[in-house]
Amino acid sequence: MAMETGLIFHPYMRPGRTARQTFDWGVQSSIAADKAGFTSMMISEHASQIWENIPNPELIMAAAALQTKTIKFAPMAHLLPHQHPTKLAMTIGWLSQILEGRYFLGIGAGAYPAASYMHGIRGEAQDTERLNDMVRESLFIMEKIWAREPFFYEGKYWKAGFPEEEAAETEEDEQHRLADYSPWGGFPEIAVTGFSKNSPSMRLAGEKNFKPVSIFSGLDALKRHWEIYSEANIKAGHTPNRQRHAVSHTIYVGDTDAEAKREVMEGPIGYCFQKYLIPIWRRFGMMDGFAKDHGIDPIAADLEFLVDKVFIVGSPDTVVEKINELFHKCGGWGTLQIESHDYYDDPSAWFHSLELAAKEVAPRISLPGQSASVAVEANAA
Ligand SMILES: Cc1cc2nc3c(=O)[nH]c(=O)nc-3n(C[C@H](O)[C@H](O)[C@H](O)COP(=O)(O)O)c2cc1C
Repeated sequence: MAMETGLIFHPYMRPGRTARQTFDWGVQSSIAADKAGFTSMMISEHASQIWENIPNPELIMAAAALQTKTIKFAPMAHLLPHQHPTKLAMTIGWLSQILEGRYFLGIGAGAYPAASYMHGIRGEAQDTERLNDMVRESLFIMEKIWAREPFFYEGKYWKAGFPEEEAAETEEDEQHRLADYSPWGGFPEIAVTGFSKNSPSMRLAGEKNFKPVSIFSGLDALKRHWEIYSEANIKAGHTPNRQRHAVSHTIYVGDTDAEAKREVMEGPIGYCFQKYLIPIWRRFGMMDGFAKDHGIDPIAADLEFLVDKVFIVGSPDTVVEKINELFHKCGGWGTLQIESHDYYDDPSAWFHSLELAAKEVAPRISLPGQSASVAVEANAA
């Protein structure tokens, strides 16, 4: 099977964009990605970051539902410690019904301390283990809500229940009937994103047979993610399938190498990295992996280094070559999840890049061991 393309929408809008502009850009991007042949669009949920200004990814998905045809949507991720599980279970179920199954669910514990603080989680309560315990309890409750069988549960963090449906008073009586907000097909596919080298999220994904998603932070971490995931997945009695693995990365495809590099250095992607992502990546240790891959000091990792050595930037031929090189080093993945940027003022170059990625690049890439022609045929089928 050929590599699939997905869009991940954080959305890295420059400060000053209004809520209306961000929302509009989300819907426009979903329509463009759907038309280009992208198989998925993930939208992240952040309460605190001005550059990642979407608190409710489900609103963009709902607006895009009637304007798109085949693309699947996922929140990436709903942060389970931040919401009551029943409310979230119903939002997820109803939205997956509205999308008639074009939906999967990303879950997470939340990475930004400021966002946890806003939800009443501060100090020691922000400990990763406790946040992950909240994730487990929330998921347990959501599964019971989706099952629609009577229960009442008093957990460590939340209370929730599902009532017994009362008996009808007359044959025509419908007031006792309960609405069905369970997900399309009964249960959504669940995805988890991993980031750190010894990622507990990847272990959880493996154990529970969730879809693994990696934020690309260097070759060592990426290789470890697959090892951790597959070990846990096999131990739990499943067969790991690389086609399910999605990897988020910064990609830009232009008509020529020079044009693509200039666009990234001087356009919205470069601006976002200078103002926001280079400092964030340094803060969370992401530069260390990239610097190690290329034998430089992390402090010397600047925008041009990232564009030349880390991001995948260039003409379709160059991008195919760079991805194949990565595939041979790490074993490959099923979906390239392209990081979206703020091209709201003039989307044409960005949408052209997405088209080239989906139509000129992805069909020529397959997992090592599969021939490219098999991949092209599979994609055309
Ligand atoms: C800088 C940064 C940005 C992140 N952005 C996202 C995101 O947009 N979506 C998401 O699902 N998780 C995001 N995460 C959370 C990570 O994917 C991951 O769930 C968390 O860091 C725990 O990872 P680990 O289990 O690999 O240590 C982010 C983490 C960091 C450090």
